[in-house]
Parts: sequence; structure tokens; C-alpha cells
Amino acid sequence: MVDTFRYDNLFSEKSVDTPLNPALHAKYDFAVAYPAPETLPMDGLIQALQTAVDSDSEKVLTEMAYYPHQLGALELREYTANKLAAERGFTVSPDEIALTNGSGEALGLVIQALTNPGDVVLAEEFVYMGTTNQLRRFGADIRGVAIDDGGIVPETLDEQIKALTAKGEKPKYLYTIPEHQNPVGSTLSSERRKAILEIAHRHSMPILEDDCYVDLRFKGETQPAFRALDDSGIVVYVASYSKLLAPGLRLGYFTASTELMRRALSFKLGSGPNQFASIAIEGYLRSNIESHRNNFNPMLQSKCDSMVAALQKHFGDSGATWSEPEGGCYVWLMMPNGSDISSIRDQVFEQGVGYVAGPAFEADGSGRIGKNCARLCFAFESVEKNAEGIALLAQLFKQHGAM
Ligand SMILES: Cc1ncc(COP(=O)(O)O)c(C=O)c1O
Repeated sequence: MVDTFRYDNLFSEKSVDTPLNPALHAKYDFAVAYPAPETLPMDGLIQALQTAVDSDSEKVLTEMAYYPHQLGALELREYTANKLAAERGFTVSPDEIALTNGSGEALGLVIQALTNPGDVVLAEEFVYMGTTNQLRRFGADIRGVAIDDGGIVPETLDEQIKALTAKGEKPKYLYTIPEHQNPVGSTLSSERRKAILEIAHRHSMPILEDDCYVDLRFKGETQPAFRALDDSGIVVYVASYSKLLAPGLRLGYFTASTELMRRALSFKLGSGPNQFASIAIEGYLRSNIESHRNNFNPMLQSKCDSMVAALQKHFGDSGATWSEPEGGCYVWLMMPNGSDISSIRDQVFEQGVGYVAGPAFEADGSGRIGKNCARLCFAFESVEKNAEGIALLAQLFKQHGAM
């Protein structure tokens, strides 16, 4: 028998014991943050790799034989620059784009370049916890910004910044998800974006724009990116191929002013992201982005419609409200004030329905405002399961006295 080696006295002060459990899935899994596996364009991605090898195997071999450039594969950066110019309305050169291991890495690099412990950072009062986790890890003091159905309210933002500044707590920057916000599903209008930019300039406060869900629109009009409305460098733009294609590819990117890019990249560990995935993405999207979106987004819409119709049917009389998104993956459910669907989350999960309760998204982590809220992902389960799962959710909420 070999004695197990103990690390008890060897761990670094900052290391934290992290559970390694695989994610559990409820029968009706509305807790996830991605579309169903069978909807991912696997054949197309594999075909794109094969085409790249068949058309110039020497080139692919040479690219694969070296560690990727720190900014990532040139062809995917060129493709991304063209995509941004055509679809997001701003022009950057491929050398102003850094590809990263998912947009999570991009966000982490920018956060590290801008954040000292104790810095006040603003974000929507309910916001993607992957970013707030990173912000906290690097010591940010996150304050939630009030939102309504249209996202951040510029006037309230301005007042909040003034009040914080008067207290000596001037915010360093604003993190926002302007299109199909995670978790609430709202999109900021171009008027609000312009007003927020004016406020940002007045307070010398950069905007970290997370455009992760922009490709997943099935209704309404895509709004201009903050970055397209402002060329001064005050906007840092981050986006991803995870939601359009597949999170498993681990490919995202960011673009920022040169001075900020250079600082952000100083925190990068290792080389640029996976070359194999980059070749597949570039080859696939170059010829298929339109057909992919034309298949994918209507399917998302049917799933969203089915969930929203089921909410109307089973929650219509409960006093609950919910968002009706024009894209993305999530419906935000708000039970009446005083109802607590956070404390029953685990029991409801065991009984068949998974959701992420509101407190997980609270920007300031206070647990004060989200207990009656839940994020429901409509993108993962089928149209039928979305309807069945919401019916069961209503039944379980009643059983637990939450409705
Ligand atoms: C708003 C937002 N930003 C960024 C990410 C990170 O995605 P990835 O690292 O896969 O690009 C996610 C993932 O769910 C997200 O919802």
C-alpha cells in the first residue's frame, strides 16, 4: 500500500478547493447555457477541415506543426475582421483582433489589464456569472446598475456614477451584454447605447462590451455595437464563436485600443488558441454562415415560442412576469416579490426541472434582489420538452408553496 501524499501545507494562499463533479442534468434541463448538441454543425465543421487539408495539405501541416501566433490563426482573424465590418459595422485590421480560448479568456485578460483589487466596476444588476466570478477573482468591487425591459437605463447609470464618485468610489469601467443579455434577454436600443457612450466619455469610464449572443437573433433588428458607435478606444469589444457554433471549440476574441491590447495580452498564458478549431471555424463559416443561421435561429425561435406559450398557459394567473427575448438562449422568469424560488431550486431539480436561480446572477452578490427570479434556457431542450417542462415547473412551484 502506498501512502497518499498530502498537500495540506503546500497549497498556495489563493487556491480554493473546487468540486470536480460532472454537471448533472435534470429531466427538463433549463439550467444549461448552450443549444442542444444535435443542433451543432458538426458535419460542416469536419467537412471544412477535410476541405482545408485536401486543398493545401502542406499549408495545414505547417500551421499545425507550429505553436499558434499569440493573436491566433491569421485566416480566422481575417474572417473575423470581415464579419465585424459586414455585420457589426466597424472596421479593425486582423492584427487588432486577438483570438482567445473562448470569450471567457478574452474577458479575463481585459479584466486583469484594468482591475486593481478594490476597484469599483459596474455591470447590469443581473449579469453573466462567468464574468462576475472573474471580476471578483481579480478583486473588483462590483456594483449592479438598474435595468428595465430595455436594459441599462442611461439616466440612472449617470446618477449612480455621480453618487459613487462623490463618495470616492468612482467606477473604473462598465461591463455590459447589450444584445440578448444573459440572463434577462434584453437588448439595448441604439439611443440608449449613444446615451451610455456620452456618459462613459463624461466620466472617462471604458465600456467592456460582451457581444456573445449577437448571432442568435430570430426577431427584430440587431442594434449597432457600442464599438460601431465609437471609434475612440473607450469601447473594448468581446465576442465568441461558442454560441453561434459550439462552446467545445473554445474560440472567442476581443479587440481594443492597441495600448489596452498590449496590456491585456501580457496576462496571456501559453500560445494562441487551438489551430484545428480555427481552421474548421473559418472554413465552415466562410461558406455557410447564412445557411447555418437560417437553420439555427428559426429553430431557436420555435423553442422560445414554445416556452413562452407554456409560461402564459401555466403561469399566466400567478402574478409572474417573464421576458420575451428576440434571440439568445434565455427567458428570465420573475415570480411576484416575496416568492422564493431560490431556496427550492435543488428540490425542483431532483423532481425534474433545472433552472438557475436569480441570486447566481446578482452583480453585487448580495442575494438581495434575485430570490424570486430564474433563468430558463429555452435553447437546449426540444419544443415539446420546453412545453412539458414548464407545465411541470408550475406544478412543482405550487407544491413547494412558491406560487
Ligand atoms: C454573456 C457571456 N459572455 C461570455 C461567455 C463565455 O463564453 P465562451 O467562453 O464559451 O466564449 C458566456 C457563456 O455562457 C456568456 O453567456
